[in-house]
Amino acid sequence: MRKALVIGNWKMNGLQARNAELVAAVASGVADETFARVDVGVCPPFIYLQAVAQQLDDTAIAVGAQNMSQHASGAYTGEVSAEMLVDAGCRLVILGHSERRSLFAETDADVAGKVNAALAAQLTPVVCVGETLQQREAGDAESVVSEQLLQALAGLGAEALEQVVVAYEPVWAIGTGLTASPEQAQEIHRALRKVLNGLSAEAADKMRILYGGSVNAANADALFAQPDIDGGLIGGASLKAEDFIAICRAAA
Ligand code: G3H
Repeated sequence: MRKALVIGNWKMNGLQARNAELVAAVASGVADETFARVDVGVCPPFIYLQAVAQQLDDTAIAVGAQNMSQHASGAYTGEVSAEMLVDAGCRLVILGHSERRSLFAETDADVAGKVNAALAAQLTPVVCVGETLQQREAGDAESVVSEQLLQALAGLGAEALEQVVVAYEPVWAIGTGLTASPEQAQEIHRALRKVLNGLSAEAADKMRILYGGSVNAANADALFAQPDIDGGLIGGASLKAEDFIAICRAAA
């Protein structure tokens, strides 16, 4: 039985005072019985990671980054390493988000390098895959996400795979208000589980596959009821405490 996981990806939103208010509301709004059944994480922008981690120190809410470097240290201006994230109090890191891939030209090879670097630093990588509308309409959704996943996880053994979280985020559903139907999402999640199964049957059964893309308080229940959907990666709705709390409850 996989424990559900709900992660808020704040993207490039929020300033100190607002962040403090948001995490205080989430920490007090998610009841203990929900935490017993759902792992919860929030991913603020880099500059606020440490402050948010300190504020959440005595709670069950994990803090994660939205990206990191695949390099350990050195002359990489503007980059942040896995070890630095751990030092700032992070336990998770989102990797290969479609915005990183499309706006910052991240390749599957970059994502694979980052997955390895995260695992080496004991950070949980949340590996994002997803197809564009054009790819879906061409009937290629399953092959596109399967290939992205295989590339990101290349060379990992069962033990390492078990540490990885996968997030399926159809690009056409991100921030658009268009959500994949629970059936459409389940179809891809099942295909991703099959890919994982081909890598390690034991790991595949334990690995959590999250859905992301316009998840909100109203549609979360139906999505999370699908057998291969183990929680969500939440963008816009994670910026409103009330909505994020409702989504966490829906996963419980
Ligand atoms: O990482 C989160 C996703 O990109 C989903 O964003 O919930 O605003 O559609 P959204």
